[in-house]
Amino acid sequence: MDLAWWFVAGVGHLGICAVAFNQAHATSFPRRWRKMSEKILGGITLIFGIYLIWQLIALATLRFWPVVQNNIANRIYLPLCLVSGLYFIVRWFYRKWRYRRPAQVISRTVSKRDIQKELGKSLYHGATARLFNAIPGNEAHMIASEQLTFRVADLPKSLEGLKICHLSDYHLTGQLDRSYFEQITNTANEFNPDLILITGDLIDEADCLDWIDEVYGSLSARHGVFYVLGNHDRRIKNEALLRERLDASGLVGVAGNWHTVQIDGATIAITGNELPWYPHAAGLKRFEESSAGVAGNGANNDVLKILLSHSPDQFNWARDYQFDLMLAGHTHGGQIQLPIIGPIVAPSKFGILYASGTFVIDKMLMHVSRGISGDKCIRINCPPEVGLITLTGDS
Ligand SMILES: [Fe+2]
Repeated sequence: MDLAWWFVAGVGHLGICAVAFNQAHATSFPRRWRKMSEKILGGITLIFGIYLIWQLIALATLRFWPVVQNNIANRIYLPLCLVSGLYFIVRWFYRKWRYRRPAQVISRTVSKRDIQKELGKSLYHGATARLFNAIPGNEAHMIASEQLTFRVADLPKSLEGLKICHLSDYHLTGQLDRSYFEQITNTANEFNPDLILITGDLIDEADCLDWIDEVYGSLSARHGVFYVLGNHDRRIKNEALLRERLDASGLVGVAGNWHTVQIDGATIAITGNELPWYPHAAGLKRFEESSAGVAGNGANNDVLKILLSHSPDQFNWARDYQFDLMLAGHTHGGQIQLPIIGPIVAPSKFGILYASGTFVIDKMLMHVSRGISGDKCIRINCPPEVGLITLTGDS
C-alpha cells in the first residue's frame, strides 16, 4: 500500500511541476524568464527526489505516513502531492475514456520516412544535437506524412477535394542540417496542394536567415503559401526584416489581415493570429465587416474561413469569427510521448489537452500539428509532421 501512496505522490509532484512549466510557456513573458523557470522547475524536481531519498534513508523506512509526520514541510507538501496525484490520475483516465476521434475526421493515414537514413549522413550539428541523436528512438530526423480527410459542413461545391498542406514549427536553428528541411519542402510539394499554410516558429537563429529562400521559397502550392509567425520568431529581433525576407520568397503573411482566394465562384478567406506574441490580430474585424468581405465576398455564402494561429490557445479568440477550420502548432505534440501515458508537457494554458491532433470547438475544426522540429532536437514517439488535409462536404 505504501508503494501506491509513493507512486501517487510522485505523480502529483511531477504533475505540479509540469503544470507550472506549461503555464509559464503559454505566456508572452521574455524568453530568459521562461528559460529560468525551466531551470528552477528542473531543480525543484531533482532536489525533491534527492530530499525524499535522504528522508527514507534517515528514517530507515519505506512507509509513507511516518515520513509525512516527520516534519512540517512533509506534512504540507506530501499530502498536497497525494491529492494532486489522485486528481491527475483520475483526469487522465477520464480523458482516455471520453476521447473519441471527431466524426468530421473521416480518414487518417500516416507514413514515416527516416531522412537521415535516406541521405546517408548525420543531420545533427553541435555537441548537444549529436547527443540527442545518440538517444535510442529519437525521431527528430524522421518525416511523418499525415494525410487527413475532414468533412466540413456546407463546404462550397467548388472546394470539394481542396488540398491543404499544413506545416508548422520548423525552428531553423542550424542544429539540424538544411538538407532535412529541403526534404520537408519536397514532401510538401509532392502533395501537389492547393494551399500551403504555415503556423509559426519558422526561424530561431539569424544565421539561418539565408536558408529562407531555399527552405520556404521553394514551397509550391496552386493558390499560394501563407504564414503566421510564432514566439520563437521573436528571436529575430528585426521583425520587419524577417517578414520582408519571407514575403520576398513568395510567402504571404496573414497576421491580422484577411486574404482571399477565389476558386470557381467560392471564396477562401484566410487570416492569422500570432497572439500573445505579436499584436496584429487584436481588433481584427470579422470577415463580413472587413474591406475584403465588404468588397463583395462577405455576402456570398460560398466562403470557407480559415485561421492560422501559432497557439491552439487562441481557439477562444476564434469563436467570434466563426471559422470553419483553425490550424495551429506551438505545442509540438509534447515532443516526448510516453507509451500509454502520452505527452507530459506542452506550452499551453490547457496543458497537454491540445498537444496535437484534431478537435471540434463548437462548429469549428481545429488541427494542431506536432510541428517539424524544435529548439531541442529530441522527439520520442512524436515524429515531425508534414500534414495534408483534404476537405470534403460529403456526409
Ligand atoms: Fe515551436
